[in-house]
Amino acid sequence: MNITLVAGARPNFMKIAPIIHAINDSNKAGNSLVKFRLVHTGQHYDKKLSQNFFDDLKIPTPHANLEVGSASHAVQTAKIMIAFEQELLANPCDYLLVVGDVNSTMACTLVAKKIGIKVVHVEAGLRSYDLNMPEEINRMVTDSIADIFFTTTPDAGYKLVQMGCNPDHIYFVGNVMIDSLIGNLERLQKPAVWDQQQLIDKEYYLMTLHRPSNVDEEKNLQELISLLGQQAAPKPIIFPAHPRTQKQLKAIGLPDNIIMVEPMRYLEFIYMVKHAFAVLTDSGGIQEETTYLSVPCFTLRENTERPETISVGTNELIGLNPNNILEGFKKLKSGNWKEGSIPLLWDGNTSKRIIETLLSL
Ligand code: UD1
Repeated sequence: MNITLVAGARPNFMKIAPIIHAINDSNKAGNSLVKFRLVHTGQHYDKKLSQNFFDDLKIPTPHANLEVGSASHAVQTAKIMIAFEQELLANPCDYLLVVGDVNSTMACTLVAKKIGIKVVHVEAGLRSYDLNMPEEINRMVTDSIADIFFTTTPDAGYKLVQMGCNPDHIYFVGNVMIDSLIGNLERLQKPAVWDQQQLIDKEYYLMTLHRPSNVDEEKNLQELISLLGQQAAPKPIIFPAHPRTQKQLKAIGLPDNIIMVEPMRYLEFIYMVKHAFAVLTDSGGIQEETTYLSVPCFTLRENTERPETISVGTNELIGLNPNNILEGFKKLKSGNWKEGSIPLLWDGNTSKRIIETLLSL
């Protein structure tokens, strides 16, 4: 079996890594040979958003890098499609496997389907129903034409059936990102900011903010940041900032207890999540990582495509309304945040199940 694997942006890398490791393990175990070709679209190109993750997660050097870089959504998507069509025509495969919901996921899916290659979507069926999020559009387009769907939760499978997907092609296997988390728990690394800021276990907040809706409007960002800083005090907020957010924040001062740092490596970031008092975030994947690690997750969004992190895990949708943010902090500080548990099949063996399923088709 020949599979082309696509990875384009930071949140793809922790999902593709365990799939590669599972392919290698399966080949070593003497199962039918799975040959893979890893294609990096180059959507993320900064060392801090890309190469550091390849190193930490032991992802092999990609067989091809399309080097598309940053651009508007239309230009970036188009550039990926043009380059990926050449790539696939030169290197035909049985399956294209895509993960997640970034522009690279959707662009490569479109190309493969039009060449007649079957598409496997890992992390299919997630829905926020918020079409202002580019990721929601990417998820809907990808799932509407993919052939095989691997889901993180039963609910995602239900949503796929609702949109007309053949139930026989939907496989509930668990969460590949949690495979990476479990596989690396023994290797976590304390980042430099720990000693620099003399951090203490469970005595700091960790924050990530990069959604265009939260950071592109200067006034909103300033108000949000100052409210969060004030509410978190006297605890510090450690804030590894995406380049998009860094750019915006250059114009805005930060409260004294918000410490902005460069984007962290994978092993450092998970270390920081594990030891945090709580995580403040507008990310998708971090809602799942905090759930697995039983760390309160304070989500600064109005909706989520990952409802199990709320119904089962430690996540709460706080949103952006200042009153809700105040209530959220009250709950955190009083120690009344829910305990949460771990969703079904988030057990570190998801990638193995994916490869076994593909080999059985
Ligand atoms: C992408 C994903 C998003 C994911 C995020 C995590 C889409 C639609 N969005 O958003 O789901 O949560 O990655 O990191 O695919 N930039 C750099 N260096 C880089 C890449 C980007 O400086 O290596 C800057 C550029 O100024 C660029 C901006 O970040 O314009 C946005 O990058 P882009 O890849 O378009 O989307 P992200 O916001 O990173």
